[in-house]
Amino acid sequence: MEKRAYKERIIYQIYPLSFKDSNNDGYGDLKGIIEKLDYLKDLGIGMIWLSPIYASPLKDNGYDISDYYKINPLFGTMDDFDTLIKEAKKRDIKIVMDLVINHTSDQHLWFQEALKNKDSKYRNYYYFRKGNGKKPPNNWNSAFSGSCWERVPNEENMYYLHLFTKEQPDLNYHNEEVIKEVENILKFYLDKGVAGFRCDVINQIYKTSLDNGKFSLFSRGREHYENQEGNFKILERFRKDVLDNYDDVFLVGETSALTPKIGQEYIDRRALDMFFEFDHAFCKSFKLIPIFKKPFYKPKDLFKPIFKWQKEVSWIGAYLENHDQLRSVSRFGNENKFYKESAKALSLFLLSLKGTIFLYEGEEIGTLNYKNLTYEETNDCMAKNAVDSAMKILHVSKNRAFKWVNNTVNRDHARAPFEWDDSINGGFNDGHKPWLKINEHYKEINVKNEENDANSILNFYKQMIKFRNNSETLKYGNFKEVSSNNYVAKFLRKTDKESLLIVVNLSKKFFKDKKLDESKEILISNYNNHEKNLLKPFEAIIYKIK
Ligand code: NOJ
Repeated sequence: MEKRAYKERIIYQIYPLSFKDSNNDGYGDLKGIIEKLDYLKDLGIGMIWLSPIYASPLKDNGYDISDYYKINPLFGTMDDFDTLIKEAKKRDIKIVMDLVINHTSDQHLWFQEALKNKDSKYRNYYYFRKGNGKKPPNNWNSAFSGSCWERVPNEENMYYLHLFTKEQPDLNYHNEEVIKEVENILKFYLDKGVAGFRCDVINQIYKTSLDNGKFSLFSRGREHYENQEGNFKILERFRKDVLDNYDDVFLVGETSALTPKIGQEYIDRRALDMFFEFDHAFCKSFKLIPIFKKPFYKPKDLFKPIFKWQKEVSWIGAYLENHDQLRSVSRFGNENKFYKESAKALSLFLLSLKGTIFLYEGEEIGTLNYKNLTYEETNDCMAKNAVDSAMKILHVSKNRAFKWVNNTVNRDHARAPFEWDDSINGGFNDGHKPWLKINEHYKEINVKNEENDANSILNFYKQMIKFRNNSETLKYGNFKEVSSNNYVAKFLRKTDKESLLIVVNLSKKFFKDKKLDESKEILISNYNNHEKNLLKPFEAIIYKIK
């Protein structure tokens, strides 16, 4: 297999608003990230993916960019960014940018010009269309609730397209100039030395037509803009025109609504180097139907989709958490009785998978969802829209709607300021009210506590990361599922030289297995006292097969 940096290094995602606030204004910033580079080096990661740091009104926390060539002043300056690249390089850490090009912010100059002047060339940077009688131009839905058309102020029956919030107008990829603009953005950051891009909703950028979508309650129109041939062609052009001129750089796509076959096609055509699948992220581990006390979840619901992708594609971005998901220990682990065990089991599981491993800030200390976040304290635009829609469509009270949204899709659980220590605001800053409230558990769950505890989740992550960094088999070996039941996963990672068997129990149950330890040597495990042929609750082991 071809050796590439992105295949060997663990990538750590930073949500800049929440990582470290160096100037005590309530928002994380680039200087804060620079301060913590030694922490990241010590953790063992090899790349940092920065969620968007560009100029933005932050309607969707940076996924609404108003200037691709400027850094949001809340985060610092372009000089700070250059320093970050330089300081990271000194520590052999590469930087990956978030590329958000399906849409811009409505505050972007292009869109502002397009609004001001019908004859401006920027009109054609976006989708402006006449309404259909009194209705919008088509029946598509926005991913963030409601129609994806917004009326243009002061113009008769004119709308613009936005697949996300109305402050995020979609760019028109039928326009050659838009493609050129994006190529220039890519070049600008590659020239600064970034190692690649995480490409936001990248399989939706090309709209083949604006015809009405097939009937569906929430996602009408997708057949016209998901994984279209035009989409592949644009990415192939980025590769040929730009990426191929740089050494060892890569694209990872954020791609919902994918099948393994289509995913593999992105890789085979070099449209993307890898992608994130969402099957496991949508597995039923949260309470989708609020009247039931517990979710109908079994660990197999997590294993099954992950293994499907492990088997069927040649490479993948493997993850359990990111800034859009609930915290993994709260979803798949056990917050109470087996907190540490379950967090470590998830760590061993993730870090044994095939593909590039993506960790999200806080995952390494086993941070959890908020226990008591209120609607008023919520910042997430998607969660707020979902509450409004639930109230309108289901006629439920705000409280009920929020409870449901908060348990299922409120992205703020992942966005709480990072817990560095037990001082005020968890050491995120020196006491200024943070943009989002600090998680209640910061006195117990924080980096400082865990650094001082040999048995902590953080120290286990460090051990596991080191193990993976030194293991050719985990980095480049094949994946083979051996047997899994509802609670325990077993899989092999294999090269010509070595076979590793990974056994992970993601439940509270004990399992006896006469052959568990037969002809095997334990290389790493999350229990210090493994008992022969017995798998304890949330016990996870990597064996070498003799
Ligand atoms: C996916 C990003 O991960 C999410 O945070 C954002 O809201 C949407 N794309 C829109 O850009």
